Amino acid sequence: MNIVIITGSNRRASTSTKLAEYIKEYIVRREYQVKLFDLYRTPLPFYSPDESFYDHKGLAELQSAMKKADAIVLASPEYHGGMSGVLKNALDHLGQTHFSGKPVLCVSSAGGAVGVSSLQQMQATVRNLHGINCPEWLSIGGSQRQRFELENADYEDGNEIEARIRRVVDSFLRLAQIVRARSNLEAEVSL
Ligand SMILES: Cc1cc2nc3c(=O)[nH]c(=O)nc-3n(C[C@H](O)[C@H](O)[C@H](O)COP(=O)(O)O)c2cc1C
Repeated sequence: MNIVIITGSNRRASTSTKLAEYIKEYIVRREYQVKLFDLYRTPLPFYSPDESFYDHKGLAELQSAMKKADAIVLASPEYHGGMSGVLKNALDHLGQTHFSGKPVLCVSSAGGAVGVSSLQQMQATVRNLHGINCPEWLSIGGSQRQRFELENADYEDGNEIEARIRRVVDSFLRLAQIVRARSNLEAEVSL
């Protein structure tokens, strides 16, 4: 099973990116293949329908990995009640060929207590791309972000946050397994 994670912060010490890295490590320990695209380290050009971006190496890598993905995680900071422009720009470079029928987990980091507005916006975009929104989502907000700001991860509520992340990621992986088993079955039947 191939899982692609796209992180949408343009900040070096981003907490949403660190949350995504934590998710990646957890999924790798469960022996899945995971590729993380950090849009801060691999910036993409502004999408324009007038331009062709076939010679952009980073974009070609992202598009190729997304085509092979069985399931996807989108991570974003909450910016002005929505996802970051950096993530939305990446999604504008992608389409239904990358998302259709694939389970998607949305996660966010917000200055306020929870980043529900960005999560809802991300899920609306996933729906338009014909992806399958995971019923669970994840938001770290306010002081909870300290867990992902500290190098030594000794934030006092860290255990509670980590348990919540593991529970949500487990339910996402279960959904991904069910969807994959079903599409394997359909492929066998049509042979
Ligand atoms: C331009 C901008 C807009 C923001 N808008 C919101 C917002 O609408 N709601 C909120 O809770 N936090 C908002 N914040 C705070 C960020 O969500 C918060 O700092 C978040 O942890 C940043 O994620 P990062 O650590 O991955 O960069 C905003 C921050 C910036 C820079």
